[in-house]
Amino acid sequence: MLRRLHPDQPDSFAFTPANQEWAEAQITKFPEGRQASAIIPLLWRAQEQEGWLTRPAIEHVSEMLGMAYIRGLEVATFYFMFQLQPVGSVAHIQVCGTTSCMICGAEDLVAVCKERIANKPHELSADGRFSWEEVECLGACSNAPMAQIGKDYYEDLTTARLNEILDELSDGRVPVPGPQNGRYASEPLGGLTSLTDHESGRTQYNASAQAAVDIGDTVKRIDGTEVPLLTPWLKQPEAPQAETTEEVEAEEPRPAKGEGADKTGVTEQQAEAASKSKPPSSDDPKGEASQDEKPEATAPKAAAPAAGAGKKPDQLEAPRESGADDLKRIKGVGPKLEQMLNSMGFYHFDQIANWGPDEVAWVDQNLEGFKGRVSRDNWVEQAGSLAKD
Ligand code: FES
Repeated sequence: MLRRLHPDQPDSFAFTPANQEWAEAQITKFPEGRQASAIIPLLWRAQEQEGWLTRPAIEHVSEMLGMAYIRGLEVATFYFMFQLQPVGSVAHIQVCGTTSCMICGAEDLVAVCKERIANKPHELSADGRFSWEEVECLGACSNAPMAQIGKDYYEDLTTARLNEILDELSDGRVPVPGPQNGRYASEPLGGLTSLTDHESGRTQYNASAQAAVDIGDTVKRIDGTEVPLLTPWLKQPEAPQAETTEEVEAEEPRPAKGEGADKTGVTEQQAEAASKSKPPSSDDPKGEASQDEKPEATAPKAAAPAAGAGKKPDQLEAPRESGADDLKRIKGVGPKLEQMLNSMGFYHFDQIANWGPDEVAWVDQNLEGFKGRVSRDNWVEQAGSLAKD
């Protein structure tokens, strides 16, 4: 297949600030003079940001790496993972057509794409929101047939399920990736036949699906703020500090023990003892201010409320006597999100089911690291059904 640059190109390309920082950090992973080795991750990030790889993006990355444009172009046109034409604004569906998937029904999945999206691969759907292509084995053969959508794998697909997934994406929802037939991971369909102890340690989703749910970057364009940039080797050296107690004392002469620290004649030791025995104040009735200032446990925590973002829903101090509902039954809510919701005072399906648009907006804004999940996964409707169970 001839891979060429698309005839319609944008005028320019720039990484978002966070992606730019990320890209510069990747370059530092390689020895001096070998910066060109970073070309694939940088081109990939450009594609993750824009959806496809434009000529200005290839040139921008080549410039960052001190490479001739033609060298960048060679890499971009060689690897099929780089999309050289616009893809659907909502999702690009990559159906695996290799042996295992073909035997298990990949051709039927391709037929769905042809019917629902466009007759030819790499063609945009009429509304420009979807595109598709057939790809080589994606390494999930034991869960055949499968498709990669955005960053994630949707496995054990049927034509009916693929149709539903397209409907959900079309409605602005992102289906949970992973096996789509109830299988947990890639164990035998009939369940584990060995190491069966592991059945009891299951979480709601397997680790890959959970990570996808937690990060929420399945089909979104990546702007670099999704996960923290981990480049410990780039840490700025800390400001020089006095190394020993002796040095500090040399810089700041202190009164000898028993001698007044200032004109009051009170020694440092007396002042320290007085502050320790200070009676509780009205601001600090138990005298436990220092206790309260301790760092909180590392459990996921809701963000500080964002000003003007909707209306804070009614909260409960604790679950009702019947006990908290299993909020993980809401599709898209894993253990972390459940813990976060509990920390915000939400324990029951009926609480969530009663949220109106303002409350949804407030919670969407205040789920640190998970912003927008309530509306994206339609929690209110889901919680309404679960509350009736
Ligand atoms: S054959 Fe489809 S994932 Fe390997």
